[in-house]
Amino acid sequence: MSNLVIVGAQWGDEGKGKLVDLLSGDMDIIVRFQGGNNAGHTVIVGGEQYILHLIPSGILHPGKVCLIGNGVVLDPTVFCQEMDTLAAKGVEISPARLKISYKTHIIMPYHRALDIAREKAKSAANRIGTTGRGIGPCYEDRVGRTGIRAADLCEPDVVRRKIELALPEKNALLAMYGKPELKAGAVFDEVMAAGARLIPHLTDVSSEIMDGAAKGKNIMFEGAQGVHLDVDHGTYPFVTSSNTVASNAAAGCGVPASMLDRVMGIVKAYTTRVGTGPFPTELFDETGAHLQTCGAEVGATTGRVRRCGWLDIALLRETVRLCGLTEIAFTKLDVLTGLDEIKMATAYEYKGRSYLYPPQTHNALAEVVPIYETLPGWNTPLRHIGAWEELPAPVQAYVRRVEELLGVPVTIVSVGPDRDETFSRKAGA
Ligand code: IMP
Repeated sequence: MSNLVIVGAQWGDEGKGKLVDLLSGDMDIIVRFQGGNNAGHTVIVGGEQYILHLIPSGILHPGKVCLIGNGVVLDPTVFCQEMDTLAAKGVEISPARLKISYKTHIIMPYHRALDIAREKAKSAANRIGTTGRGIGPCYEDRVGRTGIRAADLCEPDVVRRKIELALPEKNALLAMYGKPELKAGAVFDEVMAAGARLIPHLTDVSSEIMDGAAKGKNIMFEGAQGVHLDVDHGTYPFVTSSNTVASNAAAGCGVPASMLDRVMGIVKAYTTRVGTGPFPTELFDETGAHLQTCGAEVGATTGRVRRCGWLDIALLRETVRLCGLTEIAFTKLDVLTGLDEIKMATAYEYKGRSYLYPPQTHNALAEVVPIYETLPGWNTPLRHIGAWEELPAPVQAYVRRVEELLGVPVTIVSVGPDRDETFSRKAGA
């Protein structure tokens, strides 16, 4: 028996959905522990594309149990739409295999409205570039102790009372941003229309996991976003509103930290970022355009074009330190095909000193100068290559160098979006 946490090692969009889907085969229970429908996990199975925002990607494997932990914020309307889309494609969606924690916080219409209104009111320099899905305002109510939790959906009077209590303040804020006020009745009707459908899926996620573990089941903890979007450890304030580091897998579904055996970081072979915030290795030239075009770097949730740049080892060193990565899955190597040379930032220079890790002082990451190492590129298309040994020598050298600099084994290599464009790599190969 072994449990596995999967985290995005950069700023999200590293290809977690595909890896979770792939590794789900060996797992029994797959649980999401943070974030909400700001995530967009793209999985292609047999040529058919699935984009999942809330439901763990493990749902595509028949028989697996998928859980939504207390650390997630859940929009009932989006959740129901996702269930319906999957069911229409023949995926089995039943309360026996898709369960939600009683403690999961519910994203309300006023969370969405406030998220969008606040972002619009900010100057371009201060805008975070949120997904506009109400994630931040919902987490605010969680820590403000005014949130509505999934358990409340079982008692409509509680939901109605909480909405009535919350709305005067929310409406005052919306009025400040010049937005129309929301009516309690309409908010209640919208949330309960979808919320009532969630009730059969509610469970005690902590007990589900621990009971499964006691029976020898393997558990996968599926992270969303990326480590550098963590509300504490990321590029604050240009972050999401949850802890995306691996250790939050324990708090985000109610299990002891001691059961997190393995931590896999998904690392994209270059770096991307959506939204604003510092990005030391960002490219504004034709190489950046190559990565954006060949990598189809467009957000699965908002359709925004992703910013692109070279691999950043200094950033990843911090990921290794924050999360205790035991292994790395290296994705989208095929996108680098056609570049004459490939660079990676191995350290930064900042105010006359060199740094192996991001300096922690205010705005430092926006001002660091990356120190690059250059490796030879390759022209061979990599998609459909089926084994590590078949990869051209420069590709192998690139992967080995990343592994050497980070001190973490690269155990999986991905060279295309399809399930079968992925292979494992033996330690030291
Ligand atoms: P929020 O999570 O919608 O509040 O957005 C905060 C920041 O996180 C913005 O820069 C978003 O673009 C970014 N973000 C949120 N979710 C994802 C994701 O799944 N992938 C990449 N970036 C994300």
